[in-house]
Amino acid sequence: MGRPHTEFIHAQDLPWRLGELPGALGELEARMLSIDAERGDCSVMIQYPAGWRRTGPEHLTAAHEFFVLDGALEISGSSYGIDNYAYLPAGTTHRNWGSEKGAVVLTFFDARPVIVDGVGAPKADPDAPAVPKLNLHDMQWSTAGIDPDVMFLRLAKKVLRHNAKTGDATFVLECGGHTHPKDWRERQLAHPCVEEMFLLSGDIVGERGVMVGGAYFWRPPELWHGPFGSRGGNHCLIRFLGGHHVNRWSKDALQFTFDPPHNPVLPAHMKRYDRPHPLPRAF
Ligand SMILES: [Fe+2]
Repeated sequence: MGRPHTEFIHAQDLPWRLGELPGALGELEARMLSIDAERGDCSVMIQYPAGWRRTGPEHLTAAHEFFVLDGALEISGSSYGIDNYAYLPAGTTHRNWGSEKGAVVLTFFDARPVIVDGVGAPKADPDAPAVPKLNLHDMQWSTAGIDPDVMFLRLAKKVLRHNAKTGDATFVLECGGHTHPKDWRERQLAHPCVEEMFLLSGDIVGERGVMVGGAYFWRPPELWHGPFGSRGGNHCLIRFLGGHHVNRWSKDALQFTFDPPHNPVLPAHMKRYDRPHPLPRAF
């Protein structure tokens, strides 16, 4: 059935809830951003309380992909601080999974995340190898491979993972400030894959409203979107899933404005948490 079109919600407006994740993970407070109710794959913000720890060894039935927003998390002797990222394929053994001082972690599971006791046996997939740890502060920005037609946004990226076979990719994008389409008009874009975004900082202004830090969307394939701009610049974490990222442009251009109406598309259960967020003000 896939996940519902969710474009967009501000994560800080969602309640922290127990029991959002199955089994023992349900004891962690979480904000569910999107989930496939049948398959259980989900994108979720997890709050690890100070002192939480599981000794293991154990493994998960899902790939465990995460980006640390705050605090620090430890798994199998690696410590992940702010702006650290990892992709641990399903079956990766977790030992001493915990947090000494607490952490808030943006987490992606590609299947229902069930904890299984004992050492795991991750499938060897040369197209989707483990990414044991990346510290984004040690990585260089690159413009390689970015469509020149979207460079009016002054984009640069740090690629965190890319499966050349399936097209699945995770990267952080930087967008310049005072950016908007030339002549304030641009065509819309669509891709043959899911596009998912979490706005780490700054602002993105688009045809559905104003997104500021904490905004999240899950957009199924082939839906028109944009045009976009940014008043103050931004950093966002983007994932493409279920296909290769190709930009397809609409025939007609739309007017761009920094003052669009607030018009998100949300699943019914999320609508009560929706509220507009103004662009950050300097006064
Ligand atoms: Fe897009």
